[in-house]
Amino acid sequence: MRALTFAWASALIFPQATVAYSDCSTTTTIAPQATPTILTGPFPSDLHGSNYTYPWPVNVFRFESQGSTHEMAFMDLPPSQSAQPESPSQKQKVAILLHGKNFCSVTWSRTASLLSSSGYRVILPDQLGFCKSSKPSSYQFSLPQLSLNTKNLLTTIFNTSTTNTSTSSAGNGGLADAIDLTVIGHSLGGMLAARFSLLYPDLVSRLVLVNPIGLEDWVSLGVPYPSVEDSYLAEKASSYASIKGYQQQTYYAGSWRESYGEWVQMLVDIYAGSQAEAFAWCQARVVDMVMTQTVVYEFARLKVKTLLAIGQKDTTAIGKPSAPPEVQKQLGHYDVLGKQVAGMIPNSTLVEFANLGHAPQIQDEENFHKALLGWLGE
Ligand SMILES: *[C@@H]1O[C@H](CO)[C@@H](O)[C@H](O)[C@H]1NC(C)=O
Ligand SMILES: *[C@@H]1O[C@H](CO)[C@@H](O)[C@H](O)[C@H]1NC(C)=O
Ligand SMILES: *[C@@H]1O[C@H](CO)[C@@H](O)[C@H](O)[C@H]1NC(C)=O
Ligand SMILES: *[C@@H]1O[C@H](CO)[C@@H](O)[C@H](O)[C@H]1NC(C)=O
Repeated sequence: MRALTFAWASALIFPQATVAYSDCSTTTTIAPQATPTILTGPFPSDLHGSNYTYPWPVNVFRFESQGSTHEMAFMDLPPSQSAQPESPSQKQKVAILLHGKNFCSVTWSRTASLLSSSGYRVILPDQLGFCKSSKPSSYQFSLPQLSLNTKNLLTTIFNTSTTNTSTSSAGNGGLADAIDLTVIGHSLGGMLAARFSLLYPDLVSRLVLVNPIGLEDWVSLGVPYPSVEDSYLAEKASSYASIKGYQQQTYYAGSWRESYGEWVQMLVDIYAGSQAEAFAWCQARVVDMVMTQTVVYEFARLKVKTLLAIGQKDTTAIGKPSAPPEVQKQLGHYDVLGKQVAGMIPNSTLVEFANLGHAPQIQDEENFHKALLGWLGE
């Protein structure tokens, strides 16, 4: 026990030096301070296994993490010419849009256009393991890690890493001084946005959670924990029919429009694409992450002004089908969960959409955007 404690303690003082560690088969030596860079392409239409065409130029954030080099694809939309800068602090108004598990950054395009017209610079990242970002074969997916990657992306875009590192323990001084940040996340992106805001409270001015997941702790409520292998097999079994069936039921409250099919096909093409295997394994580890890293116990600590936008017909609860019937009945009631969580977040506004499902921003763009822009303009 003592030896173990000591090993941890000594590991903790290493980061200043070169880190050497082993993944059982190989030993890698990295220089921990390799400089992250932004590449502007052009990139092949099939980038890391997704050949969907994005409407704006794709950039790549290349960085070191966990001993390997990774690439996070993102779009970076300037504020439209006509928009007046509104921030009284002279800081640049920036919105970052975080996608859910079955969508990509590009699914936020309509929201991004409107935010740009309202004077925001809009950053749309694909998280590692998703869409046009790399699909590492041995990555420890965690919400804090994805939050850190996202913060480092912003730090690199705004080149503030050396401006001021003394402000907070997280070293966000320069970035917080340069931008007025709104973080908007849907589904898993909402869970990530909540974690990001808990980790970097000084960096986030406003937080928008759109049918976030993580509003209940499924495993503790009786959902059997799925092994990563089982999740991998479930991911491999994804088809147009299975994805459409799931999205019709949960995302769109049973309704369907032709245009929803585009997001199904985008995902099907990744499952069948050039990185199919790596994608399925990454997604399986992402399922493990959402099953084991709930944010529901920490909403009371959120300091940021928050909008909770909830389609009340949403029934999402990860792993629900494998739970016993009496457990299933208790899960995924967003008409109840929205109010519960709004009651936990000190500075929150709840907007409910009575007839919408898990993706109100797609199902009823007009009303969703009216609510979003109205709240942002307050
Ligand atoms: C980033 O900031 C550093 C220090 O302020 C400066 O030397 C460097 O040229 C900047 N890089 C870019 C790409 O703007
Ligand atoms: C960094 O920020 C702190 C707190 O805002 C300020 O006191 C300090 O002067 C800043 N340092 C530099 C080099 O700008
Ligand atoms: C995109 O990838 C999918 C899966 O590999 C493939 O079926 C489809 O033809 C590709 N589309 C284009 C336009 O290349
Ligand atoms: C909510 O947040 C806003 C913006 O930070 C702040 O002005 C307001 O005082 C906060 N309200 C409460 C009740 O904390």
